[in-house]
Amino acid sequence: MKLKIAVLAGDGIGPEIMEQGVAVLSAVAQKYGHEVSYKEALCGAHAIDEVGDPFPEETFRTCQEADAVLFASVGDPKFDNDPTAKVRPEQGLLAMRKRLGLYANIRPVETFDCLVHKSPLKDELVRGADFICIRELTGGMYFGEKKEGTDEAYDTNRYTRPEVERILRVGYQYARQRRHHLTVVDKANVLASSRLWRKVAQEMMTEYPDVQTDFMYVDNAAMRMIQEPRFFDIMVTENTFGDILTDEGSCITGSMGLLPSASTGSSTPVFEPIHGSWPQGKGLNIANPLAQILSVAMLFEYFGLKDEGSLIRKAVKASLDANVRTPEIQVEGGQKYGTREVGAWIVDYIKNK
Ligand code: IPM
Ligand code: MN
Repeated sequence: MKLKIAVLAGDGIGPEIMEQGVAVLSAVAQKYGHEVSYKEALCGAHAIDEVGDPFPEETFRTCQEADAVLFASVGDPKFDNDPTAKVRPEQGLLAMRKRLGLYANIRPVETFDCLVHKSPLKDELVRGADFICIRELTGGMYFGEKKEGTDEAYDTNRYTRPEVERILRVGYQYARQRRHHLTVVDKANVLASSRLWRKVAQEMMTEYPDVQTDFMYVDNAAMRMIQEPRFFDIMVTENTFGDILTDEGSCITGSMGLLPSASTGSSTPVFEPIHGSWPQGKGLNIANPLAQILSVAMLFEYFGLKDEGSLIRKAVKASLDANVRTPEIQVEGGQKYGTREVGAWIVDYIKNK
């Protein structure tokens, strides 16, 4: 297969983890005879500094012309601490999602047996937890009408029926490939937008009699996730709730550095870690590259290249089992490996398998 990849490394630890993601992508492509070409493009704080726009037109074109986008992270403290900043790096990520029509964000929350002790939750609770949060990505408060005045500010949580329907369809497709259980997470006891979600879902569930559909308020879902994470198979939810719940999900897996994602919709799909740019870790060779590397696995799987994806998953698991781990997940007293060393170990594993 021929694959044109747009590479958007962004800010903070982005370029370091991207280097490892690309190395793994190339190693797998070489092994299976795929022809991959890369084109780098600016985004985030980096792009603001260079051209004054966090998602420049040229980057948009590069994404449109590619088969897939590999994205790392954006964000910089100089903007976080300045609420008056006119443009923010995160707007680049949001512009990319909106302009590429990426309405479905697929965020798997898995557990690795050798890492269950890294979760603040009890081993026996998290072991075997394995669910996917399907987060709506181009609607809701992130994109609704806003006002930002000196004495008044608001964001609007607007959803339309077609937006809700299409994301639920994605959820049902995943549920049918898995354990046939879909949970709609909303706040229908308070929010009008949530009541629309619930109404649409109640109508649609009759089309999927083979899938067990249930409904849960988001506050309750946040609790259930840490009380009984194995309850969930597919969770479908709106943009803001999905953002919050998936950070919580990383505590089940054990580290933010382990969760990949795929964003799909009407144009080029994007594959990216769920974590941010971790500016404190920048340049220190301590960032975990696994979320980026697992995003590459999701990229191959998106194109139906299952063996390629599973080889990456196998390599990641082997690196963890061999204790080749970045500091935040290393066992006490164990040797701490850097971003580059973990990446190189995985590339070697792939080449030699
Ligand atoms: C994420 C991030 C983004 C979001 C930020 C960086 C805008 O937290 O991908 O989860 O809120 O969607
Ligand atoms: Mn987030």
